[in-house]
Amino acid sequence: MALEAIAMEGPEARVSVTVARLIETCSRGWERFFADHDAHQAPRFVPSVPERVFAVLEEVTRRNLPPNRVFCEWGSGFGTATCMASLLGYEAYGLEIEEELVRLSRAIARRLGIPVEILCTSLFPEGYEAYAGVDGAALVTPASLSDHNDEDRGPLRYDGMAIAIADIGVFFAYPWPEEQALMQQLFEAVALEGAMLVVYHTDQDIRVFRKV
Ligand SMILES: C[S@@+](CC[C@H](N)C(=O)[O-])C[C@H]1O[C@@H](n2cnc3c(N)ncnc32)[C@H](O)[C@@H]1O
Repeated sequence: MALEAIAMEGPEARVSVTVARLIETCSRGWERFFADHDAHQAPRFVPSVPERVFAVLEEVTRRNLPPNRVFCEWGSGFGTATCMASLLGYEAYGLEIEEELVRLSRAIARRLGIPVEILCTSLFPEGYEAYAGVDGAALVTPASLSDHNDEDRGPLRYDGMAIAIADIGVFFAYPWPEEQALMQQLFEAVALEGAMLVVYHTDQDIRVFRKV
């Protein structure tokens, strides 16, 4: 398996009133969140620029690139991208490890009436983890462990998610710079062939890959 980089055409998407309201609500949420936590208390969280994320998700959808309309945000923070995916017609899931962000993001989605499922769980499914090596983070997979035996394992899933990871058509992640390659490795290891990965490096550099 390999990843194919997909070039984006890049015109800014027109943001509907509903998406603008979502962005506005999430921005107020971040402001309150950062005001309520000092730098030491706050979870390590930096939000992406939602208009840029929306433009890419809208283009990926308009060009019909994903194999289906199931979306999963790895590290969903305030759930903005998960909510935008829902508004674009996806069955949308967010995975977030920080309980407080899970609570806040669920509350925003509920208040705006946007159907999403935010799970408080790691983006690494059981048996997968990040290993901090000398050359940066690397992915540990069940296959890399000596007692690996996947004969009686069913389809790989996240705890609490009814669907399998192989049912997800689009993944979105905004990783720390040292974890960008790791997200690609995880995607390559667990995603369905044909699935898409959108990785936010900066607001000017959002990369799109297809698993081929
Ligand atoms: C840079 S923030 C991006 C948040 C959001 N995706 C966005 O674009 O605004 C990274 C998020 O990933 C979460 N996170 C970090 N490690 C995680 C893990 N192993 N599993 C799930 N979430 C994780 C952090 O708590 C944080 O909310």
